[in-house]
Amino acid sequence: MGHPPVPPRSRPVPDPSVTVNGQVAPLSGVPAHTTALDWLRGRGLVGAKEGCAEGECGACSVLVARPGTTTPTRWTALNACLVPVLALDGQEVVTAEGLGTPADLHPVQREMAVRGGSQCGYCTPGFVCSMAAEFYRPGRGDAAPVDVVGTTEHPHEQGPNGFDLHALSGNLCRCTGYRPIRDAAYALDAPAHGDLLAARQAAPAPAPGRPAPTPSSAPPTWPPRCSCSASGPTRSSSPAPPTGASRSTCAGCAPRWWWPSTGWPSCAGSR
Ligand code: FES
Ligand code: FES
Repeated sequence: MGHPPVPPRSRPVPDPSVTVNGQVAPLSGVPAHTTALDWLRGRGLVGAKEGCAEGECGACSVLVARPGTTTPTRWTALNACLVPVLALDGQEVVTAEGLGTPADLHPVQREMAVRGGSQCGYCTPGFVCSMAAEFYRPGRGDAAPVDVVGTTEHPHEQGPNGFDLHALSGNLCRCTGYRPIRDAAYALDAPAHGDLLAARQAAPAPAPGRPAPTPSSAPPTWPPRCSCSASGPTRSSSPAPPTGASRSTCAGCAPRWWWPSTGWPSCAGSR
């Protein structure tokens, strides 16, 4: 008795890599025990913090593109302290740095700032990522308010904008308190037209084990901006688009334009 012979692989296995904030980063040679948190911080992305290193505090939260139920992709918050970075081979990650910049804050970052949702700031990037995952949740705000004794109320722990506070249940803050953080969550509008992370959810999520894109296909700038002259950008000014993509680009193809792992776009709207 013995095991049957293992057939040889028909094609080479690509080197591991992960897309972080739109940039493809190789993972070759990374020790197997390296967490995504340590790896990200070692690359200078120090927004994600280590609070507990055991999945309790949420300070290390980042966004990962995962298959959705109502949309092909859903941005999902993940505790980077719990995940070996090699487990993210072929995946797409967005950190707090990838959501916005000081000059062009993401709506979640802006609401946290103006409503006093951050003091020492240690928990803030993690809160921002968890809040962004709920911000982009497909169907948020679709549910009709509950009519209770002649008044229109919203379900417990759910804001008038449909924001479900359970999305923040894995994040702890020791100094701000949760009221201003809740205020920030409840102040969020729907993602603006042309928000590319929202539109990204219409394209398929990376499949586990799918060959990762090559570093040469990485977009040169981040956060993503829409350079569309037809529908217009909704977030600040546009940096120069990647080489070969300088035409006006409609909001429909833009997410794929910025996310080369989903393939080069076939754009019906470029002008
Ligand atoms: S450091 Fe990851 S959950 Fe606390
Ligand atoms: S702002 Fe200090 S821990 Fe939350």
